[in-house]
Amino acid sequence: MKNKQFTFDDQQLLEDIMTHRRDIRGNNFLPDPLSDDSLHKIITSASRAPSVGFSQPWEFVIIRDQQVKKHIAKSFSIENKIAQRKFTDEKLSRYSELKLEGILEAPVNIAVFYKPSKMPVLGQNSMPEMGEYSVVCAIQNMWLMSRAMNIGMGWVSILNPLRVKEILNAPAENKLVAYLCFGYVKAFFSTPELERLHWEKRKDLQATTYNERF
Ligand SMILES: Cc1cc2nc3c(=O)[nH]c(=O)nc-3n(C[C@H](O)[C@H](O)[C@H](O)COP(=O)(O)O)c2cc1C
Repeated sequence: MKNKQFTFDDQQLLEDIMTHRRDIRGNNFLPDPLSDDSLHKIITSASRAPSVGFSQPWEFVIIRDQQVKKHIAKSFSIENKIAQRKFTDEKLSRYSELKLEGILEAPVNIAVFYKPSKMPVLGQNSMPEMGEYSVVCAIQNMWLMSRAMNIGMGWVSILNPLRVKEILNAPAENKLVAYLCFGYVKAFFSTPELERLHWEKRKDLQATTYNERF
């Protein structure tokens, strides 16, 4: 439809979806399977994302096999042990109590890759990272669409990207951007888990917004 206009209720709905989107981890996923139609809808939402020069530089690997997930989960445990060494004292003991992934609990995992173009891409010359940023736009679409379908998504970044590539037999030029876990959930909380656990607070808009210059 040409020049489609949205209503105030539509705006409110989008705001609600954004406000109630949550990162979901293994303590909150249900084992109920996701239908192929649901997955198709989520991947389609990714493909609607903006991308530099309309390059659409994304590739998705859908993982349901528990054996493959176990290999990925092993990479998480190794990386998580390394990551927790960054914290000391009280933060260290609290870090070790956090559940930071849902690889095995989520019925479906999706690895999202950036596939660089072999040809020059319009708009990607001065800031080559725009290709990867385009993939992140696709991931945010997946997060919001999943939430609109009452499906949870969790982003796992505590992984060795080269090991994930090896497990998934990824082409050499592909770069892992995200490893995502999808499934129905026990509950969508109204605040981020890390806020509820007093790990971080939401920043005030004033603290992050400037007028005209810094
Ligand atoms: C790029 C990125 C990487 C993330 N990696 C992880 C992760 O490895 N483990 C985890 O538990 N959460 C991860 N998260 C989720 C954040 O912790 C979460 O978005 C944040 O705490 C705010 O909570 P909310 O998404 O529920 O609003 C990641 C989020 C983003 C955007």
